[in-house]
Amino acid sequence: MNRKSERQAFQDRFDYHPRYNDPNFSRSRRKVNHRLNAILEHVDVTGKSVLDLGCSGGFFSFSMAQRASSVVGVDADSELVETNNELAKSEGLDNLEFINGDISVELLKKLPPSDVVLFLSVFHHILTASQAYDWNDESGTVDPFQIIAAIRDRCEVFVFEIGLQNEGYEWSRRLPEMKNGADAWIRDKIFGPAFDVERIDTPTIQGLTAGIRKMIFRRLDFTKLPARILRKIFGLDPRDMRNIYVGTRKKQHGRA
Ligand SMILES: C[S@@+](CC[C@H](N)C(=O)[O-])C[C@H]1O[C@@H](n2cnc3c(N)ncnc32)[C@H](O)[C@@H]1O
Repeated sequence: MNRKSERQAFQDRFDYHPRYNDPNFSRSRRKVNHRLNAILEHVDVTGKSVLDLGCSGGFFSFSMAQRASSVVGVDADSELVETNNELAKSEGLDNLEFINGDISVELLKKLPPSDVVLFLSVFHHILTASQAYDWNDESGTVDPFQIIAAIRDRCEVFVFEIGLQNEGYEWSRRLPEMKNGADAWIRDKIFGPAFDVERIDTPTIQGLTAGIRKMIFRRLDFTKLPARILRKIFGLDPRDMRNIYVGTRKKQHGRA
């Protein structure tokens, strides 16, 4: 990659999140405010330790550091991690730290257990060795579900979001078949019996007309042309239709 396209690639990754103190930042490519508010309505992070896996530009980490006792963000993107750490330092946020690294069982074991783990819109990249990032492993030496098990072992509240097969991305079709639907698959494969699981329905789409739109658009296959045309006309982003799941450890299942 030449210098210009390297810079552009970084800018694209940088623009994925708004700066936490400027959530309406126009270049941001995800609607993060609704997601953050939806999570905070369901999870009280006050005084808690938070681990944000695949933190990207750190919008969730920075926002949660305003209430949590400590926040650690992890990302394999060294440039974003450096930028995030510089911002945390210049803002005097000493309860917030960003670590550069691959999300792995080894890394998780090195970190202290957390009250709350955020694992938002990352697992599909790991599961499919997506081409969106250079750092996902195609060798098959990493078992993504061991990562999930290690997360489960090390938190009280596990907040999870995943992309789905109908979203039309390069990786979508490589996701495993979810025979009884995504909801059942997520409850079974991600959370298992030790967690009570609550689903936050598509937090960026709210209200009655939005509910109807959701019913229609959830059924669309964004890999197919008609859905892609509708997507263009209505400015739809399939990522905004992802549900967020909040798993809370059951009392009888203590942390490992
Ligand atoms: C789609 S973004 C999601 C960002 C944020 N969690 C959100 O939901 O808004 C995925 C992020 O996960 C990071 N990522 C993907 N695979 C990773 C891996 N194996 N180890 C560490 N970070 C990874 C990427 O660098 C990127 O910043």
